[in-house]
Amino acid sequence: MSNESLANLLKEERRFAPPRELAAAANVTADAYAHAKEDRLAFWAEQARRLSWEVEPTETLDWSNPPFAKWFQDGRLNVAYNCVDRHVEAGHGDRVAIHFEGEPGDGRTLTYAQLKDEVGKAANALTELGIRKGDRVAVYMPMIPETAIAMLACARIGAAHSVVFGGFSAEALSARIQDADAKLVITADGGYRRGKPNALKAIVDEAVPRCPTIENVLVVRRTGQDVSWGEKDKWWHELVEGQSPEHTPEAFEAEHPLFILYTSGTTGKPKGILHTSGGYLTQVSYTHHAVFDLKPETDVYWCTADIGWVTGHSYFVYGPLSNGATQVMYEGTPDTPHQGRFWEIIQKYKVSILYAAPTAIRTFMKWGDDIPAKFDLSSLRVLGSVGEPINPEAWIWYRKNIGGERCPIVDTWWQTETGAIMISPLPGVTETKPGAAQVPLPGISATVVDDEGREVPDGAGGYLVLTEPWPSMLRTIWGDDQRYIDTYWSRFPGRYFAGDGAKKDDDGDIWLLGRVDDVMLVSGHNISTTEVESALVSHPKVAESAVVGATDATTGQAIVAFVILRGTAASDDGDALLAELRDHVGKTLGPIAKPKRILTVTELPKTRSGKIMRRLLRDVAENRQIGDVTTLADSTVMDLIQAKLPSAASED
Ligand code: WT7
Repeated sequence: MSNESLANLLKEERRFAPPRELAAAANVTADAYAHAKEDRLAFWAEQARRLSWEVEPTETLDWSNPPFAKWFQDGRLNVAYNCVDRHVEAGHGDRVAIHFEGEPGDGRTLTYAQLKDEVGKAANALTELGIRKGDRVAVYMPMIPETAIAMLACARIGAAHSVVFGGFSAEALSARIQDADAKLVITADGGYRRGKPNALKAIVDEAVPRCPTIENVLVVRRTGQDVSWGEKDKWWHELVEGQSPEHTPEAFEAEHPLFILYTSGTTGKPKGILHTSGGYLTQVSYTHHAVFDLKPETDVYWCTADIGWVTGHSYFVYGPLSNGATQVMYEGTPDTPHQGRFWEIIQKYKVSILYAAPTAIRTFMKWGDDIPAKFDLSSLRVLGSVGEPINPEAWIWYRKNIGGERCPIVDTWWQTETGAIMISPLPGVTETKPGAAQVPLPGISATVVDDEGREVPDGAGGYLVLTEPWPSMLRTIWGDDQRYIDTYWSRFPGRYFAGDGAKKDDDGDIWLLGRVDDVMLVSGHNISTTEVESALVSHPKVAESAVVGATDATTGQAIVAFVILRGTAASDDGDALLAELRDHVGKTLGPIAKPKRILTVTELPKTRSGKIMRRLLRDVAENRQIGDVTTLADSTVMDLIQAKLPSAASED
């Protein structure tokens, strides 16, 4: 970015007060902010008491060797015991933990008592395979209950899991196994996606010969497809089913590693983000309780994210289960066998809390309002969003068409590295603004700074930083402390740099503006891709858009927009419409933000977690050879986009 702060162009005046009834019974009320501010560490020490410790911690934070934090250092606990056994001991063994919905329509319900038995058996099986405290286990699985069971079994015996998303290639899987020196891979024959079984075991077979540390491969039978079988392979149903469900959990130190999760970032070797036990569990448990207002006796909670992402770790496995939630787990895609599948699931299980990603919400918008309208969504009471900035129009659509204008929306900002939600409204407290994550949670310190690290005034933009350590923070990058320091703590010494652009509005609320690597520099102004995209999506004919800065001889960079039109407008890409869109952006944000070129497309390049890959669109906009597409969810998308190029409309 230039010395000028990131421009603040978008003004959003709509406000939504928390529903009165929800506010009256909310888990967390406004006084939590003041309370946490008074004594931040005492606040977190109090939240740690949500958990069952074998040895209660007396020390909250050791920050004597920054940026290496130790939280609750002298405490000891077992994470799996906290997520499972203690609920059974408290008399909730019959409560449903997981309603599993397979893509083909099969299903399975696991109570907390059953989950405890399954985790106990799996823990005994892992022990039989020689897995010990301190080992690493790779998990390469579909979205089935055994995935959560495998993770909890690792946690129970003190082995760190490294879950690798089931859509990754053999190469990505082997690189992650090698980096962590994993001893075991847990996988399945396959899983169901888009109506057919896809293979996982075959990919593991390709990866394992390159991974000398792997001693065994444990395979769940999910689809029944043919698999080849080698010496290291063991069937889950043969090894695990025969075990005793009794397993005594051992308490580990609070800083004992719980998991490694690799994030690819924009370039370079994937980073193994290391999370540990006591601080992580404290913050995921507290934030899940606070942000979703979970009432474990009555709510049915559904996080739609894959378990292979941090959202699945923190808000499917550890947060909800530590809170004794009843939740839905869905294996497949939202359009199998029809585009109303999500809404059908909500109707079937009477889901009351839904946590989804903006990319999914924009897809539902594109499919049309009539689809959710066919289902009874009246059980819903809180809606969440995560993963990207949610454009104000997508937020409004979500509120109206899914939330029936009655559910508060919590736009939750966090990262794999932060482990848990950091910035979000509280559903019973915050007057929400469409498109903004708004406020750091109680006990969290975040702000926006300029190039020199000075806090920007209200109404200005810059870089998002976290100014105090937090319990669920990453502890390091696995095997690379220096890279941990360089990546997160060097840009603004003493503060954590998240890599995101952000602004503070006139009330001091925080708006996320996208990754700083994507910020455009147009005639000396730093313009956020998010704001231009949101302006485009606020036009009634636009469903989705992605904006990039392309090198331009006169303005430094020029704004190039790729847009997907909504249902009825989809075939119209005439010059009149493109001029109308350009003017619309000009009116919404000001003339400086008008795209120079707009291209209508039918798909956008996204990662497998739904983030737009602007790097590839920049290649298109600058007429370059398209770069590395291996992390694209659908590698054919770029061909479709390039085929559209001649129709590009430009102002000149
Ligand atoms: C990056 C982290 C958070 C778990 C899933 C993604 C973007 C995430 C928001 C939000 C605006 C958001 C940021 C962040 N992001 N949530 N509510 N508003 N941007 O985890 O893959 O580690 O990605 O996602 O750019 O840095 P991740």
